[in-house]
Amino acid sequence: MAKLKIARTLPMLRRNVARLRGRGATLALVPTMGALHVGHLSLVRLAKRRADRVVVSIFVNPTQFAPHEDFATYPRTFAEDLAALAALKVDLVWAPSVAEMYPEGFCTRVVPEGPAAAGLEDAFRPHFFGGVATVVAKLFAQIAPDIAIFGEKDYQQLKVVAAMARDLNLPVKVIGAPTVREKDGLAMSSRNAYLSRAERAVAPTLYRVLKDCAARLAAGEPIAATLIAGRNEIERAGFTLDYLEARHADTLAPIASMQDGPVRLLVAAKLGKTRLIDNIAV
Ligand code: PAJ
Repeated sequence: MAKLKIARTLPMLRRNVARLRGRGATLALVPTMGALHVGHLSLVRLAKRRADRVVVSIFVNPTQFAPHEDFATYPRTFAEDLAALAALKVDLVWAPSVAEMYPEGFCTRVVPEGPAAAGLEDAFRPHFFGGVATVVAKLFAQIAPDIAIFGEKDYQQLKVVAAMARDLNLPVKVIGAPTVREKDGLAMSSRNAYLSRAERAVAPTLYRVLKDCAARLAAGEPIAATLIAGRNEIERAGFTLDYLEARHADTLAPIASMQDGPVRLLVAAKLGKTRLIDNIAV
């Protein structure tokens, strides 16, 4: 098998990107924080279909974690990640150190608004989208991909990144990819590894409630009552609910009726110490 190329410094990245770009090849970027699962790999497969060359970044980005969050313990499985990416014949892995991404004196941040201030993830993780927008802007500047693939699993993030690229006139097309799920419906996530056996058995409730609510809304039941029933069911299953909301699928603005749509249902809830998020179209 051809050896997987890994760049760990900016000069190495630039050299390799220039080589991949040779003779007008198109370039796709798939940003990740590693601990790769089948969901991440589906993004890589989509990237391969949409571009000639594929770069995957693996960087656990400290600026998107609050001090009390799981940066230190976030799962890191670098050797396994590289094996999976080599098997998919990825052209380049960008795996910078924290010091390479944020050298001494780093003092610039991207401050996203609009979808980043929708009152969903931002209400519970105020650090998060500033950190994501900053690191993704850097990745786009470093690699200058033609396209970049993000999962709908992190739906608000997808909207924030698309708005950021548009507003900063970055010439990259941001593409959303469908959520990959376990057989029982649980959205795949690196953080699912934190779940105890008992929590893992309860976790698919989130998707079940989303589907239930979507069916009721599609059948014409009122939004407020449907969401109250859904929230109750999630809490009865043992979650601590952060939110279950129906929003405009593009702007993430609150909606009063299905006519204000297209509608997206979004949920976040904690099971023990593990915070899970999910969303579906109605
Ligand atoms: P990470 O959580 O590693 O996710 C990397 C990409 O994989 C994201 O675009 C995410 O939406 C997608 N993804 C995760 N689970 C998925 C699933 N079950 N199905 C389909 N896609 C899935 O999201 C991040 O990293 C970071 O915030 C990042 C964008 C890399 C910036 O640091």
